[in-house]
Amino acid sequence: MDIKIEIAKRRTFAIISHPDAGKTTLTEKLLLYGGAVQLAGSVTARKNQRASTSDWMELERKRGISISSTVLQFDYDGYRINLLDTPGHKDFSEDTYRVLTAVDAVVMVIDAGKGIESQTRKLFEVCRQRGVPIFTFMNKCDRPTLEPLALLDELERVLGIGAFPVNWPIGNGADFKGVFDRHSHEVHLFERTVGGQFRAPVSIGNLSDPVIRERLDEQTYLKVTEELDMLQMAGESFDEQAVLAGKTTPVFFGSAANNFGVKLMLDGFLKHSSAPKPHTVDCGIVTPEQPEFSGFIFKIQANMDPRHRDRIAFLRVCSGKFERDMTVIHSRTGKKVRLSSSHKLFANERETVDEAYPGDIIGLVGHSDFGIGDTLTTDTKIVYREIPRFTPESFSFLHNPNTAKYKQFRQGLDQLLQEGVIQILHLKDSAAKIPLLAAVGPLQFEVAQYRLESEYGAESRLELAPWTVMRWLPAELKEEELDALQLPTGSKLAFDSDNNPVVLFSNDWSANYFTQTNTKAPLSNLPPGS
Ligand code: G4P
Repeated sequence: MDIKIEIAKRRTFAIISHPDAGKTTLTEKLLLYGGAVQLAGSVTARKNQRASTSDWMELERKRGISISSTVLQFDYDGYRINLLDTPGHKDFSEDTYRVLTAVDAVVMVIDAGKGIESQTRKLFEVCRQRGVPIFTFMNKCDRPTLEPLALLDELERVLGIGAFPVNWPIGNGADFKGVFDRHSHEVHLFERTVGGQFRAPVSIGNLSDPVIRERLDEQTYLKVTEELDMLQMAGESFDEQAVLAGKTTPVFFGSAANNFGVKLMLDGFLKHSSAPKPHTVDCGIVTPEQPEFSGFIFKIQANMDPRHRDRIAFLRVCSGKFERDMTVIHSRTGKKVRLSSSHKLFANERETVDEAYPGDIIGLVGHSDFGIGDTLTTDTKIVYREIPRFTPESFSFLHNPNTAKYKQFRQGLDQLLQEGVIQILHLKDSAAKIPLLAAVGPLQFEVAQYRLESEYGAESRLELAPWTVMRWLPAELKEEELDALQLPTGSKLAFDSDNNPVVLFSNDWSANYFTQTNTKAPLSNLPPGS
């Protein structure tokens, strides 16, 4: 099979949204179009199934948030689509950010009744920094929404991205009648369906078609024609290059729950998004079609399913063809590794993968050496640096109240460290070896505690630590140079899990003071070598 054909078919994306905007519902409907009709409800059902099979999901249920990411792959209209699920809560942002390094585009779901919410803004920012193309789905149009023009204006004003409405809503709330497709000049009429389980029936015709005209009252008709005229006069045409550069977002209106406008969005997305693109690495450009296999690990998760108590490293394939049993080089250790246990994951089900192409995600089982950000390749010159590092802002000591369970406690912590759930520091000159956990948000500590208990049977007790700022020191500082540093009151020296020296401060002011008084020890937001 020609690798170019396989690559051209691939679309790898994630859905970003604020919790409750409709990401799960949209995912479920997209799967319907993947010919996986029997899977209708599977994503929601998955929520329940997970809750019953794996009790760490209890936390997820309790808080009504999604913690774990899943990769879904399906075929539609000649395309092979990889949809990566992103966890929705702000405290899981590190995990979410990493998932976003593995996609080529995102679909941003906005609750059209609420407009842009905080989490959407944060996730959008990450996508913008990476120049990822963004497609927007204005959801819940079956309910009263903000004015469509105001929604577009908000995209431009708040997010600073150009917005091009591909279709336009007709009527609002109880009077929502459908959308007008600005490309084809056709009206898609909205029919309310029970539960939205099936492909929504739509009638298509021009706005002046008598059948359509009959369905619209005078006021709705006038409003929509006026708005469309305004858009027309604004004169913007669809600029595919701007979309691919992440500077303009195509906007689609619809209702995921009613499966209305979802197909229009999916078709538009497939038409205007791009197949996997080249990656820039230290030695130059890696193109997807080059024969050397390469990819990077963007996520590690253990104990996903109690039926398989193991650890999965998720790899995004970037170039060449993956074949089961192939031997690759693990760049960080330089070791040769045979990839014999590779899986494709669909919800909780696993299927062995025999081959995969750029854009695909494979789950690799049983390699304890693999870490987040690692490159696997057949060409040692290729090393990816795709995974952003984040500076922790929350710190907490984690006590082990049950010394008999010390081994489980340590084992669990090591696992969570490897998965990137938390970072572990140790204070300099501290005799008591109590692990100091560091994370971007405090909820991450609760997840760590919960997982220690449910997966390793290890109880723990949190003791909040007073610091909020962490900075790295130059790695080459010697012991006596560290001892000679002038630390502001309340700050502490510590080491990260790679033994790099860091300083913990109670606030930014104290970090600035340190900088002024210790000119030979410049501080950095990131560990040495990142
Ligand atoms: P999330 O993954 O982004 O957190 O959102 P999710 O899909 O779970 O949707 C959040 C709520 O919004 C759900 O209601 C869902 O049914 C509803 N919803 C999604 N799309 C639409 C839509 O197009 N129109 C309307 N009116 N509602 C929509 P829920 O009451 O929390 O759950 P459920 O019992 O309905 O499943």
